[in-house]
Amino acid sequence: MAVIHHQNTNIFHICNEELSYIIRVMENGQLENLYYGKRIHDREGLEIFHEEEMRPQMTVSRPDPSFLSMHFTKQEYPVYGTGDYRSPAFTVAQPNGSRIVNFTYVSHKIYKGKVPIIPLPATYVEQEDEAETLELLLHDSLINTDLILTYTVYRDYPVITRNTRVCHHGDEPVTLERVMSASVEFPDMDYEMVHLSGAWARERYVKTRKLEMGIQAVQSLCGTCSSADHNPFLALKRPGTNEHQGEVFGFSLVYSGNYLAQIEVTTFDITRVMMGIHPENFFWTLEKGEEFQSPEVVMVYSDSGLNKMSQVYHRLYRTRLARGMWRDRPRPILLNNWEATYFDFNEEDILNIARKAKEVGVELFVLDDGWFGARNDDYRGLGDWYVNMRKLPAGISGLSRKIEELGLKFGFWVELEMVNKDSDLYRAHPDWVIGVPGRYESQARHQHVLDFSRKEVVDYIYEMIEKVIAEASISYIKWDMNRYMSEPFSRGTDAKGQGKFMHRYILGVYDLYRRLTERFPDILFESCASGGARFDPAMLYFAPQTWTSDDTDALERLKIQYGTSYVYPVVSMGSHVSAVPNHQLFRTTSLSTRANVAYFGTFGYELDLNMLSEEELSQVRNQIEFMKEYRELIQMEGDFYRLLNPFEGNDTAWIVVSRDRQKAVAGFYQRLNRVNGAWLRLRLRGLDPDRLYTLEWRWDKASERGDARTASRQVYGSELMYAGIPISREILNQKGGDFASVLFTLS
Ligand code: DGJ
Repeated sequence: MAVIHHQNTNIFHICNEELSYIIRVMENGQLENLYYGKRIHDREGLEIFHEEEMRPQMTVSRPDPSFLSMHFTKQEYPVYGTGDYRSPAFTVAQPNGSRIVNFTYVSHKIYKGKVPIIPLPATYVEQEDEAETLELLLHDSLINTDLILTYTVYRDYPVITRNTRVCHHGDEPVTLERVMSASVEFPDMDYEMVHLSGAWARERYVKTRKLEMGIQAVQSLCGTCSSADHNPFLALKRPGTNEHQGEVFGFSLVYSGNYLAQIEVTTFDITRVMMGIHPENFFWTLEKGEEFQSPEVVMVYSDSGLNKMSQVYHRLYRTRLARGMWRDRPRPILLNNWEATYFDFNEEDILNIARKAKEVGVELFVLDDGWFGARNDDYRGLGDWYVNMRKLPAGISGLSRKIEELGLKFGFWVELEMVNKDSDLYRAHPDWVIGVPGRYESQARHQHVLDFSRKEVVDYIYEMIEKVIAEASISYIKWDMNRYMSEPFSRGTDAKGQGKFMHRYILGVYDLYRRLTERFPDILFESCASGGARFDPAMLYFAPQTWTSDDTDALERLKIQYGTSYVYPVVSMGSHVSAVPNHQLFRTTSLSTRANVAYFGTFGYELDLNMLSEEELSQVRNQIEFMKEYRELIQMEGDFYRLLNPFEGNDTAWIVVSRDRQKAVAGFYQRLNRVNGAWLRLRLRGLDPDRLYTLEWRWDKASERGDARTASRQVYGSELMYAGIPISREILNQKGGDFASVLFTLS
């Protein structure tokens, strides 16, 4: 890993064993993006990648004899209005109304390690020699403003992270209108764009489209979150690239609010990718001496397909983005009461469910929505973070102790950013909700967004919830957020402040997360937003796991977890076994298939175990035993390989293999059964071809013996990977036909 500066040619070569990223300071002082891709040799003369020729209709931005035109130049950080007719990465309005700037290279710093970008979440290093950083300082002398572009290359991962900082020194204020975190250009357009798009209960479906000339983008304008609609991620891949071969460039934004991830292709085939805070309703005035810091983009390069890109994101995000004591610990097996009771419970109901949970081996009981204020439905109570004594006479603290006496840990649900108008909080502070005075305030789930851009609001909520947590014995918190922001307007600031407040809202959320996680470092936080509407890297920095989706149907979860795994590690995906018929789809799948899907996540139950038969309970006991034995492998030490794609065919499969390739767990799932169908062959990945493994077919049936091992064979890794495991019709029929699944373990 290195950042090399060639003084004679003024070229910066950022590289590690796998990738090269090359920047040149051009003759006009601006920055050119010469190359990004697989590692190439370092040498002085890398400017051969500079392209410059006279073209019809060309705007020449540098005096003769050069033909330098910004429109045809692959730029490092393009600005508006100087002969480049594409979308810029940066726009700033100046006192005279001009948006024209000329940022030129002044100096640079190269140093070991990586510095935080407080108050924003970002990836980090633990030892300085894990990464090297380049900071390029550019300056516009007319407005007296600095632009600092920061690049960090990791030693052990094909990863470069980027962010942008603006420091204003001029006497006159300027207003930032667009500050992308990064922009990268590629010399051709022979790529496909991969993104993760969906909606509530079908988050992060994998979408792929061929690049075309013009603009293609995904974004969030949802204000409170990165959204269920489009994840803040995109990748470029060469046509023909699949999970395990071909080139991929991943871009992932460490941010939870409005964002833009855009690809623009010119009619000369140049592809520009940019990512950052969405410019809509963003205008940020900087007075003399003030700064603006953009969020971080994490760029992953893979020369061996999408799966490798994902594995890199998994390792980096699990170990160098997530933090705290839970980062390196397998997660407790929990039972959440939401689908068991919804709002309708009292203390005895909760204790009954918890007792049964303890009997079968559950470790943590989670009390979901409905424990506070007048919260008997979703019309009222949000914002009143004090316990409903009619439901829970011993309070949260009393209940938490009773649960602990049963031998379980206790956790609970909060939704701190929201308020119902029917609440004491709203009655006391009606001006704390987001909305434009005199205009209609749209509701969603009968609730409104508290203005977290205001410190006094965040302080108030912190005080209230800190007290509840401190008085009880809390081991886990599910932090929910259930609406997008409409009529975005803060009653707490002036006209200029309106351009800042949506970003400041997100900073307020991060501030509350920071305060609570620092005050209660032992608590495991799980973020949630109507299921998976805020499944983004920034959340993982504060909460190492996220509720993946409100859709708990096993079949639907295959697609959701498959798509989510493009970027996010298995251990970050909240996954529960719920009741059948399923509450979202009314589909019935076997208890075995529901667990076989949920194992590839944090694992828990979301049902009333008292409703299960003795046979089913014995099966649940076995499932929990299995997960306790395998969670270290699945959640911590394993590499995840996608094998069969639910978006493409009837079957889904994946495998987690330990880093030393000694152990593995694989899941195979079919959608519909086949009549008189062919035998299937499941070809595994990631194993040691020369190792003799013991392959076990996990036969999860509802009987006294529960999870019996029906078959155990000695097989070489080469057989498993190149020939595959034969799966017969008979097996799939015995496993229940439609929605059947098989779990394999290898040791
Ligand atoms: C939405 C979450 O995604 C659910 O799991 C549940 O916590 C409800 N909110 C409670 O209101």
